Amino acid sequence: MSISVKNNVFTLQTRNSTYQMKADERRILLHTYYGAKTDETDHSYLIQMADHGFSGNIDGTEDERVYSLDYLPQEFPALGSGDHRIHCLAADLGSGVCDCLLLFDSYKVYDGKYSIPGLPAMFAGEGAQTLEILLKDCREEFYVRLLYGVFEDVDIITRSVVIENRMEGPAVLKKVSSACVDLMENGLELVHFYGRHGCERQMEKSPLPHGIMELRSTRGASSHQHNPFVILAGEHTTEESGICYGAALLYSGGFSVQAEVDQMDQTRLILGIDAQDFSWELGPGECFYSPEVCMCMSGGGYEGLSHRLHRGFQDHLIRSAWKDKRRPIVANNWEATHFDFDGKGILEIAREAAGLGVDMFVLDDGWFGERDSDLSGLGDWYANEEKLGCTLSELSEEVHEMGLMFGLWFEPEMISEDSDLYREHPDWALAIPGRAPIRGRSQLVLDMSRGDVIDHLHRCISGILDTVRIEYIKWDMNRSLAAAYSRMLPAERQGEVRHRAVLGVYELLERILKDHPGLLLEGCCGGGGRYDAGMLYYCPQIWCSDNTDAIERLRIQYGTSFAYPMSTISAHVSACPNEMNFRTTPFKTRGVCAMQGVFGYELDLRRMSQEEKEAAKTQIAYFREHYRLFQFGTYHRLVSPYEDKSYTAWGSVAEDQKEAVVAVVYTDLHANPRAEHLKLRGLVGEWSYRLCRDGEELGTFTGAALMNGGILLPVPKENYDSCQYYLKAE
Ligand code: GLA
Repeated sequence: MSISVKNNVFTLQTRNSTYQMKADERRILLHTYYGAKTDETDHSYLIQMADHGFSGNIDGTEDERVYSLDYLPQEFPALGSGDHRIHCLAADLGSGVCDCLLLFDSYKVYDGKYSIPGLPAMFAGEGAQTLEILLKDCREEFYVRLLYGVFEDVDIITRSVVIENRMEGPAVLKKVSSACVDLMENGLELVHFYGRHGCERQMEKSPLPHGIMELRSTRGASSHQHNPFVILAGEHTTEESGICYGAALLYSGGFSVQAEVDQMDQTRLILGIDAQDFSWELGPGECFYSPEVCMCMSGGGYEGLSHRLHRGFQDHLIRSAWKDKRRPIVANNWEATHFDFDGKGILEIAREAAGLGVDMFVLDDGWFGERDSDLSGLGDWYANEEKLGCTLSELSEEVHEMGLMFGLWFEPEMISEDSDLYREHPDWALAIPGRAPIRGRSQLVLDMSRGDVIDHLHRCISGILDTVRIEYIKWDMNRSLAAAYSRMLPAERQGEVRHRAVLGVYELLERILKDHPGLLLEGCCGGGGRYDAGMLYYCPQIWCSDNTDAIERLRIQYGTSFAYPMSTISAHVSACPNEMNFRTTPFKTRGVCAMQGVFGYELDLRRMSQEEKEAAKTQIAYFREHYRLFQFGTYHRLVSPYEDKSYTAWGSVAEDQKEAVVAVVYTDLHANPRAEHLKLRGLVGEWSYRLCRDGEELGTFTGAALMNGGILLPVPKENYDSCQYYLKAE
């Protein structure tokens, strides 16, 4: 059993970690332990009870003055209880002041994993257990149900919260976070992944100062700027050793991650929906469900954490019919043509793709409405037959006759003012009446909180999927939300719009997948602006960045790999000089980098040289042969792109450790270079492995030699050179 309860001490056990809470004699739910696996000892003995000045005492504890929520570690701190630190809940229960004091009421434990209506959540058959703890306000019929899912095999504990209003009047929720991790220690660092368009998920490790640090998105999407995944790590944690805690929010809208080191040197981490533009009127009898947080602990460094999260997301989050399959190698026309194409040109590119051995052709933006630039057409989801020279069905059939699957780009959540849809339904766009809207990429955002908008989009997309053979959709979202005002809600409830819009997007995705379970969805948001665990529930892969430069992708894909499985990272070979940063890299290196995920091409295949075509055929054959390793192998970040080295390296090892692939990309050149030895990981020391580099046999070496001595790397022959190794146990 992974959940045990004794004297109101709740101990959750995974294979390598223990998480513990206790409802104490005052019915406060304390957090008592999270860390390396230990036993069921009541860890509340670790809590210091002392009088700390200016820390208030809840009713009944004022005589002793040693009991204050201002420094006690708690599971779900609420505003107004005398805890002056960051909090999970701010709720006005009718007094006009947020003053909840949550007390333990009851609990239940059951086999299987809870689910959350309308929101993505990790799932399991019988392989997980759920703990529900019910808290109640000390006075009002206002309840908070804490949900815990325990996935023993992958050291994951999920959390979510249901707020239940059983009062006679409404409550106003001003902040509802999903989880709090209260650790009785400091000296931890926050590893987080920041960025911008074309430069997503750059890793940064920040020591936590006393006070509050916050990472957030107010953009209506999880964003390019910050990712809803963070790691709390010891100062000396490395890839291979040290303690670290990962926390991923399964949410694709605005979020907040707050970390606070308090006056007593304790560390509190809180994740949830961004509270800045949030408020929610919860009527009598209503419930509010928070998004889920996936927490994972590793005592074996970042690599251990990533391995558990990759397995956890692969087995318990990604649902697609494609989840365990080789993903189609695509050729996408965006960087080849942008908006400037016709049906004939598209078919020429598709024909070239078929000749190379590509699996699928993807028609990107510009196929619908009056869409010859990004100024118009969004919302008009019917094919521009004049531009294509045929119907969409005819185009798809021709592509299929070439032996390719067919994929199509959509940006369902958006609307151009120059579109039939806007002319018909101007009120469907988010905008404050009487004010000029904030435009982004010249477009407005549809009010996804409206049922009629969701129904309309469902009809449009389903109409196409029902009549045209389409195996894949690239689901894009190309601007941030601003001035998110819905005409469906009164002024005092506008704080609900952003979250309702996220729920609308999830509902639409769910409905489309229900009707078309075989459809492969690729998430996209100007590249990687919505790369989060929430989206993975619907989209087994996500376009990682609009930046396709192989060298910049090293850091982007490196950062992405900490939480997200390699099978989710969509990466393409594009033309040089690169259209975003103008760098030229060898064709081979572009392939090596794009194989660090879901492989494809994004360039005008008609303009490739014969030599490039031959190289592409070799790449495609190599990827097909080893796709299980590339997409589903155990991933090792061998040399970080942030290290002071002239190369970056990574590898993937088969589950049975009998095979591996390793890639090396040089980022610098030196005269008179010294020897570079790359130490591998994840092999069996006693086994012998046949080692090949770029198809050339190098001999047989023991796993011990390759892991401890390493591989002697070749000297690079040109700028941004690269090589690929393949290892097979004999
Ligand atoms: C976004 C995507 C690109 C491409 C364009 C089309 O920027 O990330 O890959 O689809 O939109 O407008």
